[in-house]
Amino acid sequence: MSDQPLSKVNMDKIVSLCKRRGFIFQSSEIYGGLGSCWDYGPLGVELKRNIKDAWWQATVQQRDDMVGLDAAILMHPQTWVASGHIEGFSDPLVECKSCHRRFRVDEIEGESCPSCQGELTEPRLFNLMFKTFLGPVEDDAEVIYLRPETAQGIFVNFQNVLATTRKKLPFGIAQIGKAFRNEITTGNFIFRTREFEQMEIEFFVKPGTDEEWFNYWIEERLQWYVKLGIRRENLRLRQHTGEELAHYARSCSDIEYLFPMGWGELEGIANRGDFDLVQHAAYSGKSLVYFDEDSGEHFTPYIIEPSAGVDRSALAFLLDAYDEEPDKEGIRVVLRLHLDLAPVKVAVLPLSRKEELIRVAEEIYADLRKCWIVQYDDAQSIGRRYRRQDEIGTPFCVTIDFQSLENHQVTIRERDTMRQIRLPIAELKSTLTAKLGGEPLEVLPPGGSKWLGFED
Ligand code: GAP
Repeated sequence: MSDQPLSKVNMDKIVSLCKRRGFIFQSSEIYGGLGSCWDYGPLGVELKRNIKDAWWQATVQQRDDMVGLDAAILMHPQTWVASGHIEGFSDPLVECKSCHRRFRVDEIEGESCPSCQGELTEPRLFNLMFKTFLGPVEDDAEVIYLRPETAQGIFVNFQNVLATTRKKLPFGIAQIGKAFRNEITTGNFIFRTREFEQMEIEFFVKPGTDEEWFNYWIEERLQWYVKLGIRRENLRLRQHTGEELAHYARSCSDIEYLFPMGWGELEGIANRGDFDLVQHAAYSGKSLVYFDEDSGEHFTPYIIEPSAGVDRSALAFLLDAYDEEPDKEGIRVVLRLHLDLAPVKVAVLPLSRKEELIRVAEEIYADLRKCWIVQYDDAQSIGRRYRRQDEIGTPFCVTIDFQSLENHQVTIRERDTMRQIRLPIAELKSTLTAKLGGEPLEVLPPGGSKWLGFED
């Protein structure tokens, strides 16, 4: 398989589209920006919400063996001693004695500073957790950390969830939330940042069944990306070698995506064994053992952890959806996002700004907004407006014209094919519901017909 992405997209095009259309802005831009921090704009926030909803639906709502959790970002400092993050979550760094820039040891070749050729210090370990203080006193005793992963909030709540849900093994706990890492090397837009969001599952199983569940989750999670539209050839699995394995992992496989800069991790699936529950039991003095009523055994469950990044998923979905095709005016840019992920589901476009048309269009707009995120646009030619919606991935445009006033019919135009159908306004909501659920455009509602109307 080639390591070069073949598509029409590159990172510059996506960064520019994201800024121009309000998906993603640089954080604190008016102050010159803050390194590797990004803000999600009006469309980005919808895309991210749709990704998280799709994940929650697949992993919690549609399963009987999963429940959700939303643990605090700030946790007892002992958590990070038990988890191994205080000791092990660090990168060896060298500093240039001239320009004082810091580099990860594994990133430099040779003996001198890659930036100014200055002399480098000996490597020092640099912990990636952000420190802060609890309460008003900036005292060593009050040091706490911003969580570098959401997982630990799940482990420390294992007994709480077990006791309150009466779940039996195998079962999982899912959580979506922010995580923070003072990464040395950031970049590639939202690929590696210091503040990001994770979607993590901790799936508790009986020891001995762990390999089977590990393989199950790899396939399940891979299919999730494919179902949401990522091309299979742009995804691959990569197993970690012994040296790469995190301190807690018995085995780990990454789901990687072919980003413009090469293959990069989207999600890691790890077999964490009993490491976490054993550690937290030892440091807290609380039993985290499971009693299996069927066999009468007591044991510490093993944990399978599929851990995905919301921001990296958003980047992969945007890159994979981006398409360009020639048209009359040059190039049509289309974001072929999956229907479930598209930030705006429907655009309402009156053909002109005549009052009678606007009145009908606004009524339709108000009605559709009860169901979906809908945009209203009456500026410039209809062709331009279709293009604007194509570029942000809106699956359907509804056009209201002068005939609509007479026969109460409107047009639906489909993003991907640019084909159109004409239908009674009374059928509009139910038809859009069906189309957004995946029904082909050719399936016509009562009173509907194919349409060769407004030029693109
Ligand atoms: N609990 C296990 C864990 O945190 P990880 O591989 O370090 O494992 C899981 O992180 C996922 O979180 C990654 O696959 C990636 O999608 C996302 N992620 C990790 N560090 C990130 C960063 N600095 N910026 C953006 N996403 C990140």
